[in-house]
Amino acid sequence: MQLSNAIMDSGEQFPVNNMSDQADGMRRIINPRPLKIIAISSGKGGVGKTNVSINLALSMAKQGKDVLLLDADLGLANIDVLLGLNTEYDLSHVISGERTLEEIIIEGPSNIKIIPASTGQNKMANLSQTEQIGLINAFSDLGNAVDVLIIDTGAGISDTVINFCIASQDVIVVVHDEPASITDAYAFIKVMSRHHNVNRFHVLANMAHDSREGQNLYKKLSTATDRFLDVVLNFIGTVPYDKQLRKAVQHQRAVVDAYPRSPSALAFKRITRNINEWTHEQTHSTGQMKFFVERMIHSDTTQQETY
Ligand SMILES: Nc1ncnc2c1ncn2[C@@H]1O[C@H](COP(=O)(O)OP(=O)(O)OP(=O)(O)O)[C@@H](O)[C@H]1O
Ligand SMILES: [Mg+2]
Repeated sequence: MQLSNAIMDSGEQFPVNNMSDQADGMRRIINPRPLKIIAISSGKGGVGKTNVSINLALSMAKQGKDVLLLDADLGLANIDVLLGLNTEYDLSHVISGERTLEEIIIEGPSNIKIIPASTGQNKMANLSQTEQIGLINAFSDLGNAVDVLIIDTGAGISDTVINFCIASQDVIVVVHDEPASITDAYAFIKVMSRHHNVNRFHVLANMAHDSREGQNLYKKLSTATDRFLDVVLNFIGTVPYDKQLRKAVQHQRAVVDAYPRSPSALAFKRITRNINEWTHEQTHSTGQMKFFVERMIHSDTTQQETY
């Protein structure tokens, strides 16, 4: 006699479907689906954050991951524009209760899910208790359906950018070969480490003319941080300057989709493989997502000092 039959009373049989649902549920509890939460930032504007966010998201999706891309950039070049998608609603409509989170999510190429930029993001800081709980629950429900959450943050070191980076597990700092890019990246890392206790950053060199230029940029930045800050930098690779990426942007497409064999697309694929190897404590993804939204809402950036 099977053990399951031996411990059940007569007639106490689970229907077959329920059994498999339960087994699935048990597997998730025992073996939670890990969730990576990655913020893309830079300090200086225009260095390629949005293109990096989109192309990493698509590369991951093409490798079979369920990806959620959160547009947290209030600038002009938003994800929906770069991908030629129409958006009507955003997070501010979820906060105000006019729409559910599921209703505002749009589907992008390779089935990535996109949360459009919120036009009223400052409101994040002043949510009522009910609004906070609503937002936390809405995001938590998404947890189980997502392997990676990528956040395209805006330029600069605003409270919103800081909050998203504090709430994420990993921060990728995009730099390119221009003095202001390195000094702004340094200033961003300094603020995050000295005032917000974020001490680990990944560095991606974009628009480089060769891989040595990328390495040199990283060296410049890490020489300064090693000298003055208590942080760990991890170089994750170089994306070359690529005319095909520009062409893809003109056609409102991601380069990994439009020109998969182009130098920048190949670089994005390499960097994605590198990211896949990051290991983290594996907490349950629903809990992880809940934690993310709680920190995003509650992060205390009121203690602004002169940086
Ligand atoms: N690897 C690359 N090769 C060539 N051009 C690039 C590359 N990466 C980005 N660009 C170009 O640089 C410009 C800025 O890119 P993007 O909008 O992604 O930057 P951003 O950091 O998100 O800007 P913002 O700070 O305004 O949000 C775009 O015109 C884009 O086409
Ligand atoms: Mg941008």
